[in-house]
Amino acid sequence: MLKIIQSAMLCVVSMTIAVAENITSKGDVRHIQAFNSGWRFCSGSNEGAEKLEYNDSSWLIVNVPHDWSIEGLAKSVTEVESDVPEFNIVKGQWKFRRGDSILWKNLDYDDSSWEIVILPSTWEQHSNYTQDNVFGWYRRELYVPADLQGKDIYINVGKIDDVDETYFNGVKVGGMGSFPPNYVTAWDVIRYYKIPHTIIRYGGKNVIAVRVFDGIMGGGIYDEGKRIVEGIFESTCPGGSGAGYVNAGTGWYRKTFVLPDAVRGKRIFIEFDGIYMNSDVWINGVHLGNRPYGYSSFQYELTPYLKYGNEKNVLAVKVNVQQPCSRWYSGAGIYRNVRLVIKNPVHIAQWGVYVTTPSVSKNEAAVCVEKKIQNQSPSPQHVKLETIIVDESGRKCAGASSLQTIEADRISIDKSSLKISNPQLWSLEKPTLYHAISKVYVNGRIVDSIDTPFGIRTFEFTMDKGFFLNGKNVRIKGVCLHHDLGCLGAAINTRAIERQLEIMKSMGCNAIRTSHNPPAPELLDLCDRMGFLVMDEAFDEWKMSKTLYGYGRFFDEWSERDLRDMIRRDRNHPCIILWSIGNEIPEQNSENAYKMAKRLADICHEEDSTRPVTSACNLPESAVKTGYANALDVVGLNYNISSYQTLKGKFKLIGSETSSAVSTRGEYNLVLDGDTLKIEKELNNQCTSYDIVSPNWGNTAEATLKAVKNAPWVAGEFVWTGFDYIGEPTPFGWPSVSSYFGIVDRCGFPKDRYYLYQSQWTDKPMVHILPHWNWQGFEGKEIPVWCYSNCESVELFLNGKSLGEKRFSETEELHLEWRVPYTLGTLKAVAKNNGKIVCVNQVETAGEPAKVVLVPDRSVIKADGNDLSFIKVMITDKKGRVCPNAEHLIKFSIEGEGKIVGVDNGDPVNHELFKASERKAFHGLCLVVVQSSNKKGTIHLTAKSEGLKSAEVLIKTR
Ligand code: GAL
Repeated sequence: MLKIIQSAMLCVVSMTIAVAENITSKGDVRHIQAFNSGWRFCSGSNEGAEKLEYNDSSWLIVNVPHDWSIEGLAKSVTEVESDVPEFNIVKGQWKFRRGDSILWKNLDYDDSSWEIVILPSTWEQHSNYTQDNVFGWYRRELYVPADLQGKDIYINVGKIDDVDETYFNGVKVGGMGSFPPNYVTAWDVIRYYKIPHTIIRYGGKNVIAVRVFDGIMGGGIYDEGKRIVEGIFESTCPGGSGAGYVNAGTGWYRKTFVLPDAVRGKRIFIEFDGIYMNSDVWINGVHLGNRPYGYSSFQYELTPYLKYGNEKNVLAVKVNVQQPCSRWYSGAGIYRNVRLVIKNPVHIAQWGVYVTTPSVSKNEAAVCVEKKIQNQSPSPQHVKLETIIVDESGRKCAGASSLQTIEADRISIDKSSLKISNPQLWSLEKPTLYHAISKVYVNGRIVDSIDTPFGIRTFEFTMDKGFFLNGKNVRIKGVCLHHDLGCLGAAINTRAIERQLEIMKSMGCNAIRTSHNPPAPELLDLCDRMGFLVMDEAFDEWKMSKTLYGYGRFFDEWSERDLRDMIRRDRNHPCIILWSIGNEIPEQNSENAYKMAKRLADICHEEDSTRPVTSACNLPESAVKTGYANALDVVGLNYNISSYQTLKGKFKLIGSETSSAVSTRGEYNLVLDGDTLKIEKELNNQCTSYDIVSPNWGNTAEATLKAVKNAPWVAGEFVWTGFDYIGEPTPFGWPSVSSYFGIVDRCGFPKDRYYLYQSQWTDKPMVHILPHWNWQGFEGKEIPVWCYSNCESVELFLNGKSLGEKRFSETEELHLEWRVPYTLGTLKAVAKNNGKIVCVNQVETAGEPAKVVLVPDRSVIKADGNDLSFIKVMITDKKGRVCPNAEHLIKFSIEGEGKIVGVDNGDPVNHELFKASERKAFHGLCLVVVQSSNKKGTIHLTAKSEGLKSAEVLIKTR
């Protein structure tokens, strides 16, 4: 038995981590040790922290997966030292001139002939200046009082559309975005620049000159850019709205460990599933490498630098998240799992097993298991390789063995072909998995063993009939997902991902697109087990960046490596049916489009000949014209539903991204316009839940569902998005911090659109009514009442009185609508098939808020320190009816074998902390997430709110 124990002497709070990792290993094969606990973390640049002897005793003790952004540990990049004065200079009178000259920066330049403009406003508004890709300059004077003599100052230049370069008395003091030819917009970032005292004229005139470039639409200094900090959200965050206004910056992790003498002579590796982003790793002060892409999995070998016995080893990881680097909330840190892997010198290489099923019939499946065996010993080794296939019950179905001699320091490839009779196919309904167990023996002794789950299935995309799985036509009913897990941030948790998938599955969803990056491996394991198809996506950008510090900086050097690594890691997952080489790649419209796409597609084919390659094209016409589309096996279409027709029969097609409908759970935005009610699409930074709002590039959920239905040659769709995610709060900016695109909100609570998809994607009879029925003040006004159902007809009743029956066969729409004069009571929808009632749904006017109700998704969880219970918190009236307008603050307390790891209510405008023990309800609901400890026992959660009856719940941990 091997043992790795944290060096107790070295750890100030040794008790918490001293026994965190206790290895038990079977025999002599590889040992995989979770390396997640007992790290130290500190944000900031921490000079010298890579050194072995660095003193980290004041750092925080954390476990990974960890996301320092969501924890509020990021240093504010624009933090103002409290004694440095700030000048908000946007509002008021400026001078403006179209065009571009470097002379216009100078302090003494004569701008008297320039146009006088009042800001904030776009140059289209103040000067009717409308062309695309143009320059313009702004100038204004600033008086800095004499009594500030010797002090630096801050100037807030507001939001600028798109790129700026800002000068103070002729000296450049800042700039955001990137000018052409490498144009990158920074339209939503507030410019907050520090001015050194050496260039300021105190008690006199100073001149600020701002050079602006505008790409398309807008232009100029259009927003005052107030600096507001609330919780983890900061309006001046350089990540802008994309990042959800959450700062990131630089952070360091260190982990101290000792290795027993018994592992001398082994080969020892550290595996990271992902570090966001641009990580550098050191062992005992020796630099092991840098990995820019935050979504790649990678390993380093530690062996040559390790110490054994009582001597300590230190792993140090520097993470550098320079914002803006992402169009969505990325999180920051070691946000996925880490393992220490101890292998014998002869072993199976990383991702060294590749299982394919070259032929599949009802009676027999051929299985090919390819293994890369690495001999890291100094002499040639005679090895025996054994491959066994077992089914789900552990029964052996096939086996093969072979002998090889592998030279010192060489990798050899072994292929075994096996046959399985009467194979159980992997399908969405019954996702059967087999296991290939690969064993390596040297001198009759087993030295390595790996269990590789795989599935046996066939699939095919066709040009005329879409997608087939195991010979059966299957419509892809998919959603795009970003990787954040709501209030848990980017730190991955298997149960949280599983719950996301359960919620999607209950809606009828059968496919996930990992937008726009390789996912955590746990997501793929879950999709294999739960029966989802996956489009595994590599990149959101290539060389032409979408954000200033995005992947474009690394593309030339890293794209091949990142893509190969994704495929090698993921290619045994039966859930994956498509490799995507990128989302909305700007190069699709460039001269090099075909060449660049072909290079990446070829890499995919080299690494895996069994799956087609796609890319999500937002410019299908250009993609066809430039040849980009010809490099793909299946053309992914983002939006552009008319191209379903124009590209019919020319390519195999999939709706790789669709709809982008926006809505807020529980908001309907009904307002009185004189005497009639109308629906405001947007109101107070919230979008109505009636499915009528989408950005100009998208479509309502309903319009998209119809387009996909009418195009059976398109394999199906991936809706943007399944869940709301932090960041990209289209169609708003600050104070909105998270998306409105989700079919369910950040908590996983369904919006009304969820039921639309359920009505189209499932067969079990369902009916859903919207809106809620608490419209006090709107008595007698006609409320639009919509029903979603997969039944033939729905009859609506108000307080027992029929308002008529409507049939789907009589309308083009995917919803039925009534106008119902409001009076309090019960609105009931009765759905029928063949004239028979098959299901009902009702909304009732709720009374005054009276109590808190707690509903856990699971009341028995594992005592493994990871498992979660998601507890839905409802504010209800005396009779238990949810009060749709309740916004009470709910305070939680917890005792026993668990802790609160997150709270949320799904409101995209809310700035409360996610890591807290209280939350306001939003439309009557909020969520508290509880995590088990390692001890078996009970968790006791209490929820209190002023004026309401409290609630308690018990969760068992086993
Ligand atoms: C798409 C893009 C997504 C997201 C979406 C919002 O164009 O691929 O990442 O930004 O728009 O509608």
